Amino acid sequence: MTLSYRVVNKLNMTAEKPERSDEQAKEDLLSQSKQEGQEATRRQPKDGEATSQSKDHWTHAAYRASASFVPLLTQEIVLWLSPQPTDCILDLGCGDGVLTAKIADSCPNIVGVDASANLISAARESYGDDPVSWHVLDCRYMENSDMLVEGFYEKVFSNAALHWILRDEETRMSILRGVYKTLRLGGSFVFEMGGAGNVADVHTALLAALVHQGVSVKKAREACPWFFPSEQLITNMLQDVGFAVERTRLEYRPTKLTLEEGGGLEGWVRLMGAQFLEVLPEVATREAVVREVCDVLGSVVTREEDGSMWLGYVRLKVLARKT
Ligand code: BEZ
Repeated sequence: MTLSYRVVNKLNMTAEKPERSDEQAKEDLLSQSKQEGQEATRRQPKDGEATSQSKDHWTHAAYRASASFVPLLTQEIVLWLSPQPTDCILDLGCGDGVLTAKIADSCPNIVGVDASANLISAARESYGDDPVSWHVLDCRYMENSDMLVEGFYEKVFSNAALHWILRDEETRMSILRGVYKTLRLGGSFVFEMGGAGNVADVHTALLAALVHQGVSVKKAREACPWFFPSEQLITNMLQDVGFAVERTRLEYRPTKLTLEEGGGLEGWVRLMGAQFLEVLPEVATREAVVREVCDVLGSVVTREEDGSMWLGYVRLKVLARKT
């Protein structure tokens, strides 16, 4: 996944006013990036195997069973993105690529990156390597990655991924600096993620169930893999790296759990809450946590009229500009 520094530097020098040759260089770079992405993914570990960075929790089957709604409720954030045929877009945390491929219908120059080799393989299998270029990238380290090309993209996009990517306080600001760097002047960073209060129901139940298994509240909190900021906090963070924040919106959006086998509340807890469960070394106690969360939450999230189950999702949408 080594992008050519010669081309990168050329782009850096001319990022503000691309001429025809620079447009050509961009095309070359994207095409080279596609080939390198394919080779890198072929070298990736198999389902569930640990990578050098962290364990890959995501199997495509579990993601489809428990989280297939993730790319579906995205009409508004895609409107905010407003993809144009001439844009170069970077999609951070593209998952299995369903939404990325949809955006590619209006903008063929799009690069999808995700830390999960399983999901990138699934994206490539479903959509091929054209027009989207898929890469395995742990975005926490993007500021210093070969993938980062300064002043290259018109837009950086992310849906339902930054609450994972920004979790680690140590890398949080570096990620935002990386996004800022890779945008051209005037370019936009448009994203939707979990916001303050997101899934408070299941979050609380998971913490309590761990405590009931003898885990300290502090350790249970540290195991939480999510970061759900308020509008004010995310605005402050983006301004700190130089962005002008043009729009934010925090919205309560209860979301219906899937009915598929392996999905539902239990599938959701096992997949999305995997890092909470890993605090416990024994399978039996992990299973006890899953059972307790499902028992306690069952009546809270189930609607009497039809038995459907809904979690209290809170979405945070942001449009910020590099000025
Ligand atoms: C979300 O997309 O809001 C979400 C993802 C993982 C855990 C909780 C919420």
